[in-house]
Amino acid sequence: MKSIEEIRDMLGRLGKLKLGFYPTPFHRLDRISEEYGVELYVKREDFSGMTLFGGNKIRKLEYLLHDAIRQGCDTVVTYGATQSNHAMETATAARKCGLNPVLFLAAIVEPNAADIRANLLLDTILGAEINIIPANGQSTKQTMEESQDLIQGRIKELEAQGHKIYNIPTGGSLPLGACGFADAYVETMEQAAAMGLKPDYLFTATGSTGTLSGLCAGKALLGNDTKLVGIEVGPKPASYPEEVIALANEALRLMGADETVTADLFTVTDQYYGAGYEVPSPDANDDIRYLARTEGIFADPVYSGKSFHGMMEYIRNGRVPKGSTVIFLHTGGATALFSESGIVGDLSCRK
Ligand SMILES: Cc1ncc(COP(=O)(O)O)c(C=O)c1O
Repeated sequence: MKSIEEIRDMLGRLGKLKLGFYPTPFHRLDRISEEYGVELYVKREDFSGMTLFGGNKIRKLEYLLHDAIRQGCDTVVTYGATQSNHAMETATAARKCGLNPVLFLAAIVEPNAADIRANLLLDTILGAEINIIPANGQSTKQTMEESQDLIQGRIKELEAQGHKIYNIPTGGSLPLGACGFADAYVETMEQAAAMGLKPDYLFTATGSTGTLSGLCAGKALLGNDTKLVGIEVGPKPASYPEEVIALANEALRLMGADETVTADLFTVTDQYYGAGYEVPSPDANDDIRYLARTEGIFADPVYSGKSFHGMMEYIRNGRVPKGSTVIFLHTGGATALFSESGIVGDLSCRK
């Protein structure tokens, strides 16, 4: 167990850039709290900056791009779906640091070349090198695994031109990136304590694990008993909890901590992504409307809408008891509201 000062010291020794605007806001959701008899707060990682389209990747990128610059790299390669927030945020952060962004994007939902939207449009405005790979019904991970010849071929070409590459896997979920969310956990608990709160639950979307792993690392370091719940945003293998634990522990070792993350520190659920990743869920879309219409806050159909919906179901069905203090970690991603209709679903219908 470490004090906040000790944790900040350990994180500080890793070195990071200043890309986002921290601390991100933390505030009560008054109308939902009253309606459901809980104390519901939101941690606004959607306001992380450094653009209007911030989200949960900037904290990871502060550490990762610091490392890229330290290693003398001039080009950042990363991966995601064509509407990946991570890819777009990596491109913005790379541009700010004077690095070249190179993106490999799996077309889970086929973009329309005549009507480029949302994150893919932002990638284009940023002038990132965009390599679109057909997904043929596979996940981003599978698509990238099967396209290694193409990817490695392009990387070799760039290297032959004299570029030094910093390679960031999907979602920025490297141990160093996950440290950003140990930081976020401490920041959130500090804000809660300053308001006299003892949070019972913290809910987040979880995909490539970095966010949840980092939060788990932060929880292990602080030694508090807030229940961490990860709402999965797509199908995951049975080994997923072990992957979360492994990354969290690698992050802790990087920080030089002797604490350990174990399975009892968090739970994950696969109940709320509906039919798949980037497949709209009518139930989650109802809750996107509900959040907008009660609190004036936008969530997206791929990540934060599904995690908000999952959390609301926990509250509605009593798995979160009345009177609990609950934090919703809003991980951002609202650009997806302006993406292809195959991702947005029925959100544009009057309802
Ligand atoms: C908006 C948003 N929320 C949540 C996540 C999930 O975070 P992680 O990949 O760290 O599990 C992502 C990842 O891309 C995201 O873009």
